[in-house]
Parts: sequence; C-alpha cells; structure tokens
Amino acid sequence: MKRILLINLLLSIFLAAPAAYGKERVLNVLYTGSLQGELEPCGCSPKTDFGGLARLSGYLKENKKKLSPNILIDAGNFSGEDTPQGRLKTETLLKAYGIIGYDAVAFGKREAVFREDFLSHVSKKNRIRAVYDSPHYTKSIMTKKDKLNIHLGTNPERYEKGKVNILLSDTDISDAETIKGWDVIILSSGEEIEEPLKANGTIIISGSQRGKKLGILTLRFDNAGNIKDYRHRWQPLGSDIREDKAVRSVLNDYDLRVARLFKEDIKPLTEAKYLGVEKCAECHQPFVESWKKTKHAGAFSSLERVGKSFDPECVICHAVGFGEGGFYNMEATPGLAGVQCEVCHGAGREHLPVMEKPLQPVTEPVCLKCHTKDRSPDFSYESYREKITH
Ligand code: HEC
Ligand code: HEC
Ligand code: HEC
Ligand code: HEC
Repeated sequence: MKRILLINLLLSIFLAAPAAYGKERVLNVLYTGSLQGELEPCGCSPKTDFGGLARLSGYLKENKKKLSPNILIDAGNFSGEDTPQGRLKTETLLKAYGIIGYDAVAFGKREAVFREDFLSHVSKKNRIRAVYDSPHYTKSIMTKKDKLNIHLGTNPERYEKGKVNILLSDTDISDAETIKGWDVIILSSGEEIEEPLKANGTIIISGSQRGKKLGILTLRFDNAGNIKDYRHRWQPLGSDIREDKAVRSVLNDYDLRVARLFKEDIKPLTEAKYLGVEKCAECHQPFVESWKKTKHAGAFSSLERVGKSFDPECVICHAVGFGEGGFYNMEATPGLAGVQCEVCHGAGREHLPVMEKPLQPVTEPVCLKCHTKDRSPDFSYESYREKITH
C-alpha cells in the first residue's frame, strides 16, 4: 500500500514536472522609464515619498528569487538636464544603473541633448548596455533568459522574427499604437498607462514618471515560445523598502559633489535686497515670535537633516530669495535660511525707508510657488493659512 502511494507520488511529480518546466516558460519584464533625473524623492510629503534608486535596488535584491527569471530594462528619458548639476545627476544615475545591473538602458529625447562623448564615456565606465536609435550606437541587443531569445530594440521597423521582441521607445502612446510586429513596447514618454494596452497584438506599457514605481510585466509562453498570456502589476517604491547600501553611497557621493560644485563659485552679494528676520524683529518682535513656532522657521534644518542643504534644487523653496540675491549658503548668508518673512511679504529693502508703503499682498499664488502638488499634496489655502497665523 505504502509502495503504491510512493509510486503514485513519484509518478505525479514526474508528470507534473514537464508542465511546470518544459511547456510553461515565464519571463518577468521589470521596467522603468522617464525617470527625468530623479535620483530619489525629496521627502517633502509622505504622500509623494515614492521612488529612488536605492529603494529600487533594495527591492530587486530582496526579491531576487521571486522575480526570477527576469529582464531589467530602462526605456529612456532617465537623465537630468544638460547643466553641471544635471550632468552630475546623469553620471550618478548611470553609476547606480551599473550597480543595479540593468540588462539594457535606452537613450531617448532627454539623452539626445548631451554631447555624445559624454554619455558614451559614462556608459562605458559603468558597463551600461546602452541602446539608442542613433548613428554610432548599438540600436538593439540580443539576450537569453530561461532559454528565451530576447531582442531588445530601439528602431520600430526592425523587429526580429522568431524572437521575443521588446521595443524601447520615447514616442507617445498614439504613435506606439500604430507600430507593428513587436511583442512588447515599453515607452518612456512619461504618459501613465495604469493597465497594459493592447494594439496590433502588441502589449504597450510605459515607465512610471520619476521612477515612483517599478513596472512588472509577467509574460507566459507556450511551447513554441509565443506569449500565451500576461499579468501586470506596479510595485510602489515607498519608504517601507529597505535601501541598498551600495546605491545609497553613490547617492550620498552625489550630494557631496553637488555641494562642492556650488562652493566653488561663491558669489559675494552685490546688494542686500533681503534684510532677514533679525532685522524685522527689531520692530515686529511679536510676529517673529509666533513665526518661529511655524514649520517655516525650521525649513532649512529639514534640509540639513537629510544632507541636502547644499542642493540648489532644494534650497530654492527652503530659504529666502535663493538665486535672486538672497540666501546663498550657511557661510555666506546664515541670516536668510528658512522660509522667512520676506518670502511672503516681499523684499524688505523698499519697506524700510517708507514703512507706510504697503507691502506686497499675501495671496494664495504666493504659497503655490512652493506648495506645489508634488511637494505639498495636502495644501489647501484656508487650512494652511490658519496654521501660519502670526
Ligand atoms: C524700523 C522698524 C521696522 C522694520 C525693521 C521693519 N518694519 Fe515692517 N513695519 C514697520 C512699521 C512702523 C509698520 C507700520 C506701517 C504703517 O503704519 O502702515 C510696518 C508694517 C509692516 C507690515 C504691514 C504692511 C502692510 O502692508 O500693511 C508688514 C507685513 C511688515 N511691516 C513686514 C516687515 C518685514 C517682513 C520686515 C523685515 C524685512 C519689516 N517689516 C521690518 C516698521 C518696521
Ligand atoms: C518659499 C517657499 C514657500 C512659500 C512661498 C510658502 N511655503 Fe509653506 N512651507 C514651505 C516649506 C519648505 C515647508 C516645510 C517646512 C519644513 O517642515 O521643513 C512649508 C510648510 C508649511 C506649513 C506646514 C505644513 C505642515 O506639515 O504642517 C504650512 C501650514 C505652510 N507651509 C503654509 C503656507 C502658506 C499658507 C503659504 C502662503 C501664504 C506658504 N506656506 C508659503 C515653503 C513655502
Ligand atoms: C517647489 C518647492 C520645494 C522644493 C523644490 C523642495 N521642497 Fe521640500 N518642502 C516643500 C514644501 C511646500 C514642504 C511642506 C509640505 C507640506 O507639509 O505640505 C516641504 C517639506 C520638506 C521636508 C519636511 C518634511 C517633514 O518632515 O515634515 C523635507 C525634509 C523636505 N521638504 C526636503 C526637501 C529636499 C531634500 C528637497 C530637494 C531634493 C526639497 N525639499 C525641495 C517645498 C519644496
Ligand atoms: C508663509 C507666508 C508668511 C510668512 C513667512 C510671514 N508672513 Fe506675515 N503675514 C502673512 C499673511 C498671509 C498675513 C495676513 C495678511 C493679510 O491678512 O492681509 C500676514 C500678516 C503680517 C503682518 C500684519 C499685517 C497687517 O496688515 O496687519 C505683519 C506685520 C507680518 N505679517 C509680519 C511678518 C513677519 C515679521 C514675518 C517673519 C517673522 C512674517 N510676517 C512671515 C504671511 C506670511
């Protein structure tokens, strides 16, 4: 009796095995696209605190088994602007991509603005497998995963018969829907596609803008290697995900380099346009005392806490008059740190000689310069204004 059971058991394993391994092949297409230079979220609000390369890497490492077999692709438009800081960002991104181990990184319109030798140099240095529909570049690559022959291309006309064809493109959805012959198209246009679209037998997906989530398209193949069906889900990259230390250190290094970049060219203030809260306190002490109790007073400390007090992209909203003759850094202009009086009431220089002259009226648009949807999703003028009454 026991013997028969055992034979039955072995038999069923034997019979089940080919079904699981021989016929049904699976591939997880893990994709990003349209990162737009976002190395990590600013952390201005818990509601929008998603994304970041250290979390992405941490998630992939921690779920390696679960996600296997997979192919990891960036569909393009990842880089920063063509400015000194933007180039630092782009270098940092590609360094992180190298550590994370992307199978392919496509170049799109955002990448096209750089001098070509810059991107090719940085890509080579970080062993990035770049694909780009442009002369002097590899336009497509072949790779094998779980015995599947995969063709990753960037030229819409050039799909390869008999392969799993994945097109990486920065075109928009309506254009993508006219492209024929590909199994999957991954877009980096920044347009959001919640659930995959289907057009001409092609599955169309699009990378989450600014890398807030990782896309996971699971393809199932039949015996002949044709896609039988698919599933799709988004993995949000929230603060609950443990960061990868190696990528974190690359991001920290970026912060140091940004700080150095801006330390090198300290410009003396030509003319003090902003007076700073200490000056206002001479005549408006009670207002200053109650302002000190608002979060605006501590806005610069928030940046120091997260190591970003030298990053102009953050300082612009966390200090007075940055880039317009106001705050520069803590050494040069310590009195203008934080969201001070003059951010809302206007530069004080004109107020002092003629104090009766009305200052700029404080209205909602003044707040919205900083309380944008992404940074401050809960902002409502009424409730927020109440909180800063002074
Ligand atoms: C030397 C004293 C003095 C200093 C310094 C000073 N103020 Fe005033 N401020 C006044 C006086 C006096 C008034 C009232 C003017 C009036 O009678 O309308 C006033 C009025 C104001 C008002 C109301 C104006 C209006 O439109 O009704 C605001 C807002 C204000 N000050 C902000 C500031 C800020 C911000 C600073 C710092 C940059 C500052 N003040 C510095 C003396 C001062
Ligand atoms: C120069 C940019 C800037 C402007 C202009 C600005 N804010 Fe803010 N605000 C900030 C920053 C930065 C913080 C976050 C401070 C912190 O905690 O680090 C903040 C925080 C706040 C908070 C605290 C939110 C909380 O979590 O409790 C309130 C309320 C607020 N602002 C109201 C206003 C209102 C109302 C206006 C317009 C009258 C305004 N702010 C204009 C930058 C700005
Ligand atoms: C466009 C303006 C703007 C920029 C740029 C900006 N911030 Fe903020 N930040 C805000 C506002 C507004 C808040 C308050 C949001 C709220 O509570 O509604 C805030 C809040 C914060 C907070 C406080 C969150 C808390 O704990 O309460 C931190 C930390 C922060 N920002 C970091 C950064 C960093 C880092 C950068 C640059 C990468 C940055 N910010 C760029 C506007 C900005
Ligand atoms: C986030 C924006 C914001 C900041 C920062 C801010 N204020 Fe105000 N302040 C306002 C608003 C809004 C009012 C109400 C104005 C109104 O009702 O027209 C106001 C009112 C005032 C008034 C009274 C004006 C009047 O008409 O009675 C004074 C004086 C004043 N603020 C001074 C200051 C001083 C000094 C600081 C810095 C310590 C400061 N404010 C910081 C937004 C701000």
